[in-house]
Amino acid sequence: MRIAEFDLERYFARWEFAVRHLLCASDVQAYPMSELLALADDEVRGLWDTLQLGYTESTGHPLLRREIASLYADVEPDEVLTFAGAEEAVFCLLNVALEPGDHAIVTWPGYQSLYEVARAAGADVTLHELHESDGWRLDLDRLRRQLTPATRLIVVNLPHNPTGMLPDRATFDALVAVAEEAGARLLVDEVYRGLEFDEADRLPTGAEAMPSGVSLGVMSKAYALAGLRIGWLATHDRELLARVAGFKDYTTICSSAPSEILAIIALRARDRVLARSRDIVATNLDRLDGFFEDWADRFEWVRPRAGSIGFPRLTVPGVRIDEWAAGLVEAEGVLLLPASQFGHPGNHFRLGFGRTDLPEALARLERYAARTLR
Ligand SMILES: Cc1ncc(COP(=O)(O)O)c(C=O)c1O
Repeated sequence: MRIAEFDLERYFARWEFAVRHLLCASDVQAYPMSELLALADDEVRGLWDTLQLGYTESTGHPLLRREIASLYADVEPDEVLTFAGAEEAVFCLLNVALEPGDHAIVTWPGYQSLYEVARAAGADVTLHELHESDGWRLDLDRLRRQLTPATRLIVVNLPHNPTGMLPDRATFDALVAVAEEAGARLLVDEVYRGLEFDEADRLPTGAEAMPSGVSLGVMSKAYALAGLRIGWLATHDRELLARVAGFKDYTTICSSAPSEILAIIALRARDRVLARSRDIVATNLDRLDGFFEDWADRFEWVRPRAGSIGFPRLTVPGVRIDEWAAGLVEAEGVLLLPASQFGHPGNHFRLGFGRTDLPEALARLERYAARTLR
């Protein structure tokens, strides 16, 4: 198998643990272990205290699958399969769901593996480009025109990385109708689900939208537990899930035993865990609103509707974001993620607002901007 380099991950490999402030991280400030354990009920505390560090069930701990299933209205535990992060789930699913000659449509700019793994699996991939001038919205008329008789899969990421876009319910329903008419499967990457700024905006899930629909979830983002490396697929298509399970035998076989138990704790306490995340994001967004108001003549921003990231643009003529971000990290130790890491030509950058050091990071960015953009 040949696959192109994952630009964003290579960038993070270089910078993530070398800078003072990650102002482009997509996850929420990680839960400290002691605080998470304090949320355990008696049953799971018992599982934790007596845990044997052997192999685990390859489909996922039965209690974990039960908790994940309960995130959906009508998904059964055996319609859930767990993975080492969402990333492994993407890799396994796309390799199983797509064959050489199949056609897939994937939203772009976006998380690279969603289209790169599809290409590596031999599929012919059409990118459905989102535009700032449209508020980064899905354009269903254009999407319809992108369909071909070979279209097997439509991949969307809602809420969206990197823009924070979230369609309204009518647009989501229309998207499902397009997939149904085309006889294509819909994969909804829902890793930022739970971080809608207005809970009324939460959409139905991919798994429940249509019989062949698939939801992709993870503990990393809204649940603030990226270090667990626990992700999942949920779908009513059990035949597909069985084939994906067979593929996973060649990747990780089964999940990490401690991580499974910690994920069960977090999911059972999800109201508190998600409230903490939403609180961090809301406080940070307030600050960003102030920043973008003050700097409206230097930065443009389509305010996200959900998630922990947005995709603003530096609008100062002659200043390229790649060089400006390089200067910022050098001078202030604050990391941004320029659009080029998404293969996008715009002067945008990903801004993350899930971390509690945002006030200091933003103050440093502002100090640098005052020196270089006036
Ligand atoms: C849209 C999207 N999908 C999948 C993933 C992969 O999640 P994880 O790194 O937790 O496996 C990410 C991570 O940034 C993401 O942003």
